[in-house]
Amino acid sequence: MLKQATYYRSMKVLQISAECYPAAKSGGLGDVVGSLPKYLNQAGVDTSVIIPKYGLKWMENIKWKVVHKGVIKMHQQYTNFTIELAQSTKLGFPLYVANIPERFDRQGIYSDPGGHYYHDGVERWLSFQLAILNWLTNDESVVPDVLHCHDHHTGLIPFFIKTVAAYRKLSGIPTVYTIHNGQYHGAYSWEKLYLLPHFAEAHRGLLDWSGMINPLATGVKTAWRVTTVSEGYMEELRHQSVGLEPLFGHEQFKCKGIINGIDNQVWDPATDPRITNHLKGTAIAKFKTENKKEIARQFNIDVKKPLFTFIGRLVYEKGADLIPDLVKRVQQSGLKANFFVLGTGEPYLHEMFKKMSKEMFNFFDTSLEYNETLAHQLYAGSDFLLMPSRVEPCGLNQMYSCRYGTIPVVRAIGGLKDTIPDLIESPKTGKGFRFYEFDLDEAFMAVYKAIELHKNKKQLAEIRKRIMGTDFSWQSSVKQYKKMYEELISVSQPNGVSN
Ligand code: GLC
Repeated sequence: MLKQATYYRSMKVLQISAECYPAAKSGGLGDVVGSLPKYLNQAGVDTSVIIPKYGLKWMENIKWKVVHKGVIKMHQQYTNFTIELAQSTKLGFPLYVANIPERFDRQGIYSDPGGHYYHDGVERWLSFQLAILNWLTNDESVVPDVLHCHDHHTGLIPFFIKTVAAYRKLSGIPTVYTIHNGQYHGAYSWEKLYLLPHFAEAHRGLLDWSGMINPLATGVKTAWRVTTVSEGYMEELRHQSVGLEPLFGHEQFKCKGIINGIDNQVWDPATDPRITNHLKGTAIAKFKTENKKEIARQFNIDVKKPLFTFIGRLVYEKGADLIPDLVKRVQQSGLKANFFVLGTGEPYLHEMFKKMSKEMFNFFDTSLEYNETLAHQLYAGSDFLLMPSRVEPCGLNQMYSCRYGTIPVVRAIGGLKDTIPDLIESPKTGKGFRFYEFDLDEAFMAVYKAIELHKNKKQLAEIRKRIMGTDFSWQSSVKQYKKMYEELISVSQPNGVSN
């Protein structure tokens, strides 16, 4: 009991990630790592974040204080690095970066601005993880009570502290591994083994999955707890995780789904500086109409017709390839609607959307870019948000859209299934329209129902009010993370043997 009480006061958690909004964001991982720590701190968990130092604008505009200088050894190559702490930010948590210029001083997180993936991914993520371990082994004052790693980029940390003699000091620290995207394993050939620090042969199996070094699988095997970002997705991983299904089955005793929250301070229709017209009191209809007009000023949409928007990466997982057929089908059916797509991704989809915007005037328009401000404006001004995802571990966009009164039309999988009950199946609690199979007819039916709802102004107003009042904040999930950290700390032995 005494031990627990001592830890309660000083519980320190370090979040290790490739992204953290607003410093570096490519998708939802950035949003989560940029907001969860703030709310953990508010709940009394002393939480810091570390990401690599990229050559990105936000990072260049911040003052950094060097807190550690070290050297990473990968095979015969020695690389100098520093750990730096951001000065005077308003993030709500301390943000550290690992400054390894030759691997990260670039304009992109995973790929260059032209969309080409960096070829040295293995070396980049290995050097990032080794830099953190070098820092933690050399500076006792920063050693946390829990290491919380995110996605495959950081999946080897729990393994290294268990098996590498140089990091033995850290071996008693509980580790949590959160999967935001089980599609990407970061796997590579055993030929790259020479880059890893030395560990006993007996531990080789912990790195292996299907004859490759698989950081995602290693994280799952070696972390003390594994979480993913919704209960629905946790269940799906056991049946569909690009080859890791048996592993999730085997490790399920330590796995848990915890739904993401959103940052209600950033996403506030009454104050959001990125939108033109704010919500005043309960004037929801006015808020929606004015923001829709703002979109119509910039793009070819018809404010009288319901506006369906897709926001996100134009990739297979997000089902972006269903949109061209869906839009054409709605147009051919003679239904009154408009569609808008915001995002970047597959070049063939860029071409298709560009062509459609020329041919379908006042029916379809697009902005093929990553644009945070336009995204906010679209959540505020659209009527419906389309999320036809093939895979959706949690999904944040459906929550942002609810907060701004835009009704989601979603495929019922992963976090979408957990957060958006169907309006027809559950008329009193529904928050959107769902379809089940990844199928054009099903998606079309869901859009059709949405268009019908849009004609009934009274019902539309009711649903908008309901979804805007939903609590998607971090509050309840923060409690679950906090409880998990406390449980882990209570069974850990500082500087001792791990679980
Ligand atoms: C990934 C997932 C998304 C999730 C996000 C944050 O981007 O694809 O579903 O919401 O991570 O956890």
